[in-house]
Amino acid sequence: MPTPNSSSASAKGFRRAVSEMDSKQAEAIMSPQFIGRRQSLIEDARKEREAAAAAAAASASETAEPTETIVFEEKDGMAMLNLLFTLKGAKTSLPSRALKVFEGFSDQVYRQRRKMIAEIAFHYKHGDPIPRVEYTAEEITTWREVYSTLKSLYPSHACKEHLDAFHLLERYCGYSENNIPQLEDVSRFLKERTGFQLRPVAGLLSARDFLASLAFRVFQCTQYIRHASSPMHSPEPDCCHELLGHVPILADRTFAQFSQDIGLASLGATDEEIEKLSTLYWFTVEFGLCKQNGMIKAYGAGLLSSYGELIHSLSDEPELRDFDPESTAVQPYQDQTYQPVYFVSESFSDAKAKLRAYAAHIKRPFSVKYDPYTYSIELLDSPQKIHHSLENLRDELHSLIDALNIIS
Ligand SMILES: [Fe+2]
Repeated sequence: MPTPNSSSASAKGFRRAVSEMDSKQAEAIMSPQFIGRRQSLIEDARKEREAAAAAAAASASETAEPTETIVFEEKDGMAMLNLLFTLKGAKTSLPSRALKVFEGFSDQVYRQRRKMIAEIAFHYKHGDPIPRVEYTAEEITTWREVYSTLKSLYPSHACKEHLDAFHLLERYCGYSENNIPQLEDVSRFLKERTGFQLRPVAGLLSARDFLASLAFRVFQCTQYIRHASSPMHSPEPDCCHELLGHVPILADRTFAQFSQDIGLASLGATDEEIEKLSTLYWFTVEFGLCKQNGMIKAYGAGLLSSYGELIHSLSDEPELRDFDPESTAVQPYQDQTYQPVYFVSESFSDAKAKLRAYAAHIKRPFSVKYDPYTYSIELLDSPQKIHHSLENLRDELHSLIDALNIIS
């Protein structure tokens, strides 16, 4: 539902912002070169669901035709096992997905650079420090343009949690228009604030894997930057999107819990549910709006990393609806232009409560609980395990009651 306060405030904000822009910025907004997104979690989830259904149908109709060959060889007293196999069905093979990352770029230097940075992600092991990237002068110029343009909009358009964290990131994490922050520094910052950690990724994850990592408070993060020719738009996530859109808001405890809850809900969920959770993620974590002091503000990373869409989202143009997981989860999304519909949360706490109520209805044979001491997921599939968790909870409640007694 559109809110009167937001409409007038954002329309004024839009006019003011456009009049204050230089000609290059104005051109980017008024005739945006929006060439669509090459990647979206929902599209990935849908493709995976369709591929799984096609593979199941294919294997049901196939005869027992051999698709694997096992060859034993003996060489210099050592036995070698060679396993040769062919891929069948509609599933996309890893090499073709890997190549997809670099599709669409004719600039050979840029393609090489992307490959080089992708190698970091391919070789990364959990627990290692994230290798630093020495960004080139051209990359820093691109970052500067994105950073300074977006930063000018944040005070009027970003939610308070984003603004607060952005200030801290500038102070402690190397956020500035002349420096692209390093994922390792940012990951350490987030770990101290909310327990979230970053993991470098080349962009190859399935929707299920991406959501599952959120359950462990791990956020998969790209490390390359968009092509210098289009600083105001990137068809896929890049470090501008991650560092300016996602990272600040992941430093908020309630939002961090909300993000983890989406991940926890995805564990053991059906492909259909993964698609719905990806859609929920899209309309909240990527494109969510929230109410603050009678105004509408942006908290979605897709908005806070896109100058054009950030202005559009708070203008009179789109339709605003109250966040309701049941209807949001099946809302068609738009990946070729700005969203025509956005969902507005009352607050992060409210969004978290609604999401938990939604997740409780997802059918699966077990419940899960994250153990922050061991960074692991515990299956609550027996009365003993639930009893044990309740004991821990009782201990925590005792500590809190003691603390209340002392201060009162
Ligand atoms: Fe994102």
